[in-house]
Amino acid sequence: MAGHPEDAEIRFLTGTYAPLPDAAHYQQTVTELDLGCGAGSYTIQLAARFPERNILAADVMLGRLRKVIRRRNRARLNNLTVLRTEARFLISFAAPDGCFDRIHLLCPDPWPKDRHRGHRLLSSDFTAQLHRVLKTDGIFHFSSDDQTYCAAVRDVLETSGLFRAVAADPALDGIVSDFEQRWNDIGRSVTHLFYQRLPLPPKTIGH
Ligand SMILES: C[S@@+](CC[C@H](N)C(=O)[O-])C[C@H]1O[C@@H](n2cnc3c(N)ncnc32)[C@H](O)[C@@H]1O
Repeated sequence: MAGHPEDAEIRFLTGTYAPLPDAAHYQQTVTELDLGCGAGSYTIQLAARFPERNILAADVMLGRLRKVIRRRNRARLNNLTVLRTEARFLISFAAPDGCFDRIHLLCPDPWPKDRHRGHRLLSSDFTAQLHRVLKTDGIFHFSSDDQTYCAAVRDVLETSGLFRAVAADPALDGIVSDFEQRWNDIGRSVTHLFYQRLPLPPKTIGH
């Protein structure tokens, strides 16, 4: 790690169990998470558009996070926190209940081959954890150029009974992630899905 001054500004949530730093603050103030932020174009634009919100950018790849730190510092954004963490670890273990107002999962690796489908982030277990870490009425925002992946995500969210489809938020218009831009540049469109967290259904006691 020596020789990378940006590393001092990255929060590392790897190795042994580590809870999300400042989670209590995020529970009480408006907080958005860009999960798998990559080189960070989306996150940088989001932080600039909503300076009063906490924006968290999370990824496993250190080189990409260093880039996000450099871009954040150049843009003088003081509402953007960069986390090195694995997405399942953050969502299933490190983040407490009701932490995020909105989670963006944009152009995640689609793992299109049938035998690799299990590598996809969106599964029914992950959906339940997304529901747990979102606040009341929180939003899950997903995008992909891969229609099969979009259909699978719709299916898992809708059959969960934990989310309902809602309209796109016009306040996000014009904010484009690095991968979406890449796809657009070669003439491929990217589909965006917005799902709102529903209250948990009442528990039924066995008779
Ligand atoms: C295809 S890129 C998309 C980046 C960005 N969201 C965009 O739309 O430009 C996927 C990103 O997710 C990150 N990623 C993949 N699996 C991950 C995981 N399990 N936990 C955290 N990040 C992950 C990769 O390192 C990569 O930066």
